[in-house]
Amino acid sequence: MAEPARNPLSESGANALELFGVGRSFGALTALADIHMTVRAGERRAVLGSNGAGKTTLFNTITGDFPPSTGEIRFFGEDVTRFPAQERIRRGLRRTYQISLLFGGLSVRDNVYLACRGVSRSRFSLVRPKWDDATMEQAERILRAVKLDDIADTLVGNLSHGQQRQLEIALALAGAPRFILFDEPAAGLSPTERRDLVAILSSLPAHIGYIIIEHDLDVALRVSERVTMMHNGRIFKEGTPQEIENDPQVQEIYLGGGHG
Ligand SMILES: Nc1ncnc2c1ncn2[C@@H]1O[C@H](COP(=O)(O)OP(=O)(O)OP(=O)(O)O)[C@@H](O)[C@H]1O
Ligand SMILES: [Mg+2]
Repeated sequence: MAEPARNPLSESGANALELFGVGRSFGALTALADIHMTVRAGERRAVLGSNGAGKTTLFNTITGDFPPSTGEIRFFGEDVTRFPAQERIRRGLRRTYQISLLFGGLSVRDNVYLACRGVSRSRFSLVRPKWDDATMEQAERILRAVKLDDIADTLVGNLSHGQQRQLEIALALAGAPRFILFDEPAAGLSPTERRDLVAILSSLPAHIGYIIIEHDLDVALRVSERVTMMHNGRIFKEGTPQEIENDPQVQEIYLGGGHG
């Protein structure tokens, strides 16, 4: 019997991200090779892998910071492979960086406000920036969501490392994000700050999906519905947190001391 007709667009519209054979080389080095990956809209995914596995490079190809050398990337069904980073941001893609890019001389509130304004600003605006109420309100909402409202007036340069990482999450929430890439937000956090991070991620609106790069298996398994394991620029395993936790190969890597 013939298969029922399928509408490829509406099907892939249910997926936030689809990667088909994505690869990235830097000269002779293959940082990423033949990545096939599908993440549903609203899905929370963790990516794990040793140093140099290609995790950040994967993010760079998705955001357009370093477009892929091969393959295709679809964002909510649309082929964005050759789009500049700004076009992907306009479509609701956000990221945080492994290395902080904050404005140290401004307050927490100003940073969040500027991020909200930056996303909504019209490109050819000739008017001087004004503090408008709607953007201000959005900034306050985000500050509460990431529990930074108590220290909104603190200069960013005076924040602890953990508070800076919280602020980076706040900046990624500016505008109307549909999907966020978090690059090791838990790195360098104390156990208490890690718990706060898990709570913040868990309380994000359900329609916002994300991929989180995380070295700590324990955190990764708690904040994701599926886990992707990478090694040497390739995906070598994918499954539910439970499948990954019980996987002999993963146990060998994470409990056998082979993780570096
Ligand atoms: N811009 C670049 N130019 C040259 N080589 C790069 C560049 N970015 C990444 N690489 C190389 O690609 C490989 C993958 O790096 P990547 O940063 O993606 O790893 P990672 O999994 O994020 O590692 P880590 O856990 O240390 O952050 C590494 O060998 C790295 O040196
Ligand atoms: Mg990295």
